[in-house]
Amino acid sequence: MSSHTFAARGPLRGTIRVPGDKSISHRSLMFAGLAVGRSRITGLLEGEDVLATAAAMRQFGAQIARDGNGSWVVDGVGVGSLLEPREALDMGNSGTSTRLLMGLVAGHAISATFTGDASLSGRPMNRVIVPLSQMGASIEASAGGTLPLMLRGANPAVPITYRLPVASAQVKSAILLAGLNTPGITRVIEPVPTRDHTERMLTGFGAKLEVGEENGETVIAIHGEAELHPMDVVVPGDPSSAAFFMVAASIVPGSDLTILNVGLNPTRAGLLHVLRQMGADIEEVDAREVGGEPVADLRVRHALLTGIDVDPAIAPSMIDEFPVLFVAAALASGTTRTTGLEELRVKESDRLAAMAAALTAAGARVEEHEDGLTIHGTGGDPLRGTANGRVKSLLDHRIAMSMAVAGLVSEGGVEVDDIAPINTSFPTFMGLLDEAAA
Ligand code: S3P
Repeated sequence: MSSHTFAARGPLRGTIRVPGDKSISHRSLMFAGLAVGRSRITGLLEGEDVLATAAAMRQFGAQIARDGNGSWVVDGVGVGSLLEPREALDMGNSGTSTRLLMGLVAGHAISATFTGDASLSGRPMNRVIVPLSQMGASIEASAGGTLPLMLRGANPAVPITYRLPVASAQVKSAILLAGLNTPGITRVIEPVPTRDHTERMLTGFGAKLEVGEENGETVIAIHGEAELHPMDVVVPGDPSSAAFFMVAASIVPGSDLTILNVGLNPTRAGLLHVLRQMGADIEEVDAREVGGEPVADLRVRHALLTGIDVDPAIAPSMIDEFPVLFVAAALASGTTRTTGLEELRVKESDRLAAMAAALTAAGARVEEHEDGLTIHGTGGDPLRGTANGRVKSLLDHRIAMSMAVAGLVSEGGVEVDDIAPINTSFPTFMGLLDEAAA
């Protein structure tokens, strides 16, 4: 474990560029690895989670090589031609790699064993085991439907129509990936929209995929035995990584920071709306499209934020941003209430409990409920800091980075027990913090 103390260090200024989007990076390696021919990827996030996906795709037979900073070349193996991995697939900390690749294996006549770190090994996999079993895969999981697990795929698998019981892009994507090599049409009904990168990107790679609406719910249909063609992917900057700097620049007095090339897909942009509702000063500059995704540079200036009741309907479009939103709320004037966030309890950590404990230790006033937090803000005054202890990041990158941001607005600094998890999603975080807040 490597601990670090984050202390107040003045305004965030200048211009920074956050790394590539994690969700899009995973998918670009998977889909390019399934295409027939050579794809090039630029702007790939080179964090540990994405590298776990690359290693797994290599075991399935794709050839994947790095030929420069964020620039990768992939020769795909072809849908239907996956090799059986020789070794267990070590998914590290990455739920996205695990759940999506379980879907991929489910539609092929191969077996694979999935393992992961202590955080990933506590996360629920039944949400993918249930639909993939219906499609014909057989899965032996550890107690409670967790990793390590062994999955034997089916060929041919059976196409299903599956209505998502939880709002989860990972579950949706797992089923669509299983449908890629399944004869017929596999359908996912999505009562609540979640990030749509799989749909957009599979279409780009040449899959026949239709998105429609029935009774106010989204229906996604994928035509099986797909053949994917190679393509060049440009990965936009990750809004979930930009989030830490959006909040930091909003709450540190005197800040005026521009974050370049931030992906603003509407299924990901919830934090921007909520921060603006709280009074944040965030300007979208040079709105454009990168790799089929809406992107803009964000100019963020310090502003006094006001607490609000966050509409639970917006949660799926900012599901990974709540930990840092809680930090913004702790500095706002008045009370912020969040509800409908049960899913946060099954992320890399129980993010409601983790942030309630960490913010309380740093001097914030927080009440934890079953499905959210209520936070009484300081009105802009700094937090006390963690004078007599460390906060626990619990193998969760977003807890570590959120508490780093809290440290920037504290009197005594915030000590985080372990910052190593930051490397799973944002390996340049510490350097960019030094650059922005010199
Ligand atoms: C992701 C989906 C979300 C998100 C995760 C990435 C994806 O998970 O929290 O960080 O790339 O599909 P859920 O599907 O579990 O909500």
